[in-house]
Amino acid sequence: MTRRILSGIQPTGNLHLGNYLGAIQQWVPLQQVAECIFFIVDSHAITVPQDPKQLQANIRRTAATYLACGIDPERSIIFAQSSVPAHAELAWIFNCITPLGWLQRMTQFKEKSASQKEGACLGLLAYPVLQAADILLYHPQAVPVGEDQKQHLELTRDIALLFNRLVGHDYFALPEPLITAQGARIMSLRDGTKKMSKSDSSEASRIELTDTADAIAHKVRRAKSDADLIHAEHIENRPELANLLAILALLTGQTLDQTIEPYIGKGFSALKEALIEALVSIIIPIGEKTEALQQDAAYLDAILIKGQKAANVIAHATLMDVKERMGLWVKP
Ligand code: AMP
Ligand code: TRP
Repeated sequence: MTRRILSGIQPTGNLHLGNYLGAIQQWVPLQQVAECIFFIVDSHAITVPQDPKQLQANIRRTAATYLACGIDPERSIIFAQSSVPAHAELAWIFNCITPLGWLQRMTQFKEKSASQKEGACLGLLAYPVLQAADILLYHPQAVPVGEDQKQHLELTRDIALLFNRLVGHDYFALPEPLITAQGARIMSLRDGTKKMSKSDSSEASRIELTDTADAIAHKVRRAKSDADLIHAEHIENRPELANLLAILALLTGQTLDQTIEPYIGKGFSALKEALIEALVSIIIPIGEKTEALQQDAAYLDAILIKGQKAANVIAHATLMDVKERMGLWVKP
């Protein structure tokens, strides 16, 4: 059985349905079977420019969203990444053992740095090294994420192996990625071949967890579809249909076969109406809870401070082990 799991999301805007179905929806039941650590990845967020005031507000907002989605602060450790200094310190040590070539090959680095060329900051290249530190500090058995993080988790495992080889014993166990089959990649409502993303310039491409019922209905009715009737064959060639069905299946807990059955031989409109109903029943309560929790900054801060203390104890102990094994100075 999994003993400890860990994951995090960047506080860079409103969380969306992809974050929920790819990540948070898996986190909630894991709290029953594992010790859970969920953090707010603010140090990663500054690898692209952020407005400081906005970032600060978004950190609390992300904490409020975690709670609204069912993350229980009595059971799980919730904290802001930048509040535990061991993350940055271990990242520096890993920076000194990770080959540059591994980082230059990362898809996310290539995508995010493409438009900036030589102007891209060093942090963008080092991003996956910090992520490896985030993870390995806590010795988790598994990391529940969406599919776009698979490459970063593979790199984390490679860095763990490199470190183990360097120090001559298996200090770090290799964490497993936990990626669900259907929620792994929720696609844009405007283009079924593109990932739903916070950074898409079209708001209509994503359902945000604080959208109103009207906004949800509007976005789903406008969602791209195709001219064919719905049938069960060759869904893999119809990305928009596949996406709407996957979302509905995940929201209702049904299989894909059960989900498609009532709509066979029909156009998209009945499917879209069912999707609106499912989304409204799940997303609206989350949005309302998020807004209510946001009003209580002192409560959110108290949770983040409690989480920081608990995380710091675990992370500091790992950092001391690593420093000692690397031959760095450790207080006798
Ligand atoms: P980010 O918003 O990039 O910090 O992502 C936070 C978490 O949500 C990660 O586990 C991602 O893999 C997951 N995620 C983000 N977008 C999607 C998506 N469109 N489909 C599924 N998972 C996603
Ligand atoms: N890179 C992840 C993302 O954008 C966020 C992240 C940072 C993370 N550190 C992590 C996720 C550690 C899981 C574990 O989604």
